[in-house]
Amino acid sequence: MSIKNITWSVHQVSKKQRAQQKRQKPCLIWFTGLSGSGKSTIANELEQELFRRGYHTYLLDGDNVRHGLNKDLGFSDGDRVENIRRIGEVAKLFVDAGLIVISAFISPFKSDRQIARELLGEGEFIEVYMSTPLDVCERRDPKGLYQKARAGHIKNFTGIDSAYEEPDCPDFLISTEVASIKTCVEGLVLYLEECVFRDARLK
Ligand code: ADX
Repeated sequence: MSIKNITWSVHQVSKKQRAQQKRQKPCLIWFTGLSGSGKSTIANELEQELFRRGYHTYLLDGDNVRHGLNKDLGFSDGDRVENIRRIGEVAKLFVDAGLIVISAFISPFKSDRQIARELLGEGEFIEVYMSTPLDVCERRDPKGLYQKARAGHIKNFTGIDSAYEEPDCPDFLISTEVASIKTCVEGLVLYLEECVFRDARLK
């Protein structure tokens, strides 16, 4: 498919205006980590906390998006690449709309996360790595999927027979096995307000 014969239409209300109206810095807070690492839990708690503080947010979550927009995709490497490509593009639109977007996808491949980062502007993509080790995720097994994968009932399961590439230099790292959910979220909110959202609310 090509974009030949398609032109770009310029909108009269800009991203900057939408952000100013909301008095916030639009950005994408990108959670990555194994299944069961706590991405959805922390992302949910983070959204609640930001919402409580008056920010305009939206949460994109792997399991939910795979019920709709991406329900045609499975878990082959190619489908995961397409999953993350679409999420990156959707998140970019939401950031353009002036929102603080939180995404929670395994997003196992470095190159796909890098592509998502490059879709956004400088300082707009914040990679949050849920560093929970495989054995802890497997012990938690909140959906019983590791057990099924070990038994061979699920193929291409991340960490078992499908790769996960850890970020080399995430913007923020969370270890849920050493700190409580509350402590993790407090630390992340502090980082966001000090280093990412700085000044935007004063304008
Ligand atoms: S990603 O790899 O393409 O980023 P995504 O975050 O959308 O994955 O979906 C992961 C969720 O799908 C997991 O939390 C788990 O509940 C479910 N799932 C089902 N099959 C698999 C599988 N083979 N590998 C990983 N997760 C799976």
